[in-house]
Amino acid sequence: MSMLYLDNAATTPVRPEVLEAMMPYLTRWYGNPSSHHTVGEAAADALADARSRVARVLGLRSGDIVFTSGGTEANNLAVKGIAIAAAQRRPDRRAHVVTTPIEHESVLESVDYLERVHGYDATLVPVDEHARVSTDAATAALRDDTVLVSVGYANNEVGTVQDVAALAAVAREARVPLHLDAVQAAGWLPLSAEELGYDAISLAGHKLGAPKGMGVLGVRGRVPLEPLLHGGGQERGRRSGTEDVAGAVGFATALELAEAERVEASARVSAIRDRFIARVCERVPSARLTGDPVHRLAGTASFTFEGTSGEAVLLELERRGVVSSSGSACAAGSDEPSHVLVAMGIAPEIAQTAVRFTFPRWLNAPLDAVADAVEASVAAVR
Ligand SMILES: Cc1ncc(COP(=O)(O)O)c(C=O)c1O
Repeated sequence: MSMLYLDNAATTPVRPEVLEAMMPYLTRWYGNPSSHHTVGEAAADALADARSRVARVLGLRSGDIVFTSGGTEANNLAVKGIAIAAAQRRPDRRAHVVTTPIEHESVLESVDYLERVHGYDATLVPVDEHARVSTDAATAALRDDTVLVSVGYANNEVGTVQDVAALAAVAREARVPLHLDAVQAAGWLPLSAEELGYDAISLAGHKLGAPKGMGVLGVRGRVPLEPLLHGGGQERGRRSGTEDVAGAVGFATALELAEAERVEASARVSAIRDRFIARVCERVPSARLTGDPVHRLAGTASFTFEGTSGEAVLLELERRGVVSSSGSACAAGSDEPSHVLVAMGIAPEIAQTAVRFTFPRWLNAPLDAVADAVEASVAAVR
């Protein structure tokens, strides 16, 4: 049996169109965009073009786009860069940041760093049993000294999608910038700054068919940002280091393709997802869907299977040709129950039985055979 890769939230293969667009900038036009000669200028032109294409998809200005080494760096730059720049203008140089307990580690650990090293306060807004953040809870977390609200658009483990426009309205009312971790949302959900109302947005290329190690922080020019990487002053001083020109071209190509396909892909894949979820729940009585039943990513189906072990179910699935994950790739292999599931009120013993299926955007046929493999795998483990 051939292998079916259903771990696309962990990473995706590079799309052929993306690789093709990148190749000239790895070989022929290899210049340093800061060099003042024709080889450098060709690279600088390509970088500027990639920047404006990314900006167009987001509805931001070219100057708002900072290329980074991925989603982790974009989140670190947003959380630390915005919070530290804002606190510089306060007498005690400390401040308060608001996030949620279900964020990716790159947000949670950045907030922890601000608390440990810089004496900041942080509030984690509780989520409900479906991993949704209410506007009331977000409003209650805000203080006079709050300088940043950071929320994930769509959760990487359970696929729950937040009402970003409503949360942005809460932040705007309090005159606090909103940072959106849109790493999992890109390609499935609208990214327009105008529609969503964010001040900063993180994206990662490798979730979209671009290579690993390339990301973007889009940050509105009016938001002060303290850099994390100091040096030659590239990216308007916000991220020093010779730019990855080919990576930027690949990122822009992947983002444009995903955006062009987004509405059709979301409708097609969410129908397949719903049929898959229904079949798993029908065949496996112990299966519980995790995350919001309605507000969820088109490409994510996540469950717990009480009475099993998630890791054992994954092995049985792989024997049957299905590659999936227990939750996030970062937590894979660890015995700790997922912080996301625990924050949703799921008992640690049940959280250990989690299995997540994340689909490719091109998926175009029902997954009945996968649901049957889930049934057989759970039975084998039990
Ligand atoms: C929601 C979310 N944020 C951030 C990241 C980090 O992105 P990267 O792997 O590019 O560092 C990931 C995935 O790994 C993610 O799922």
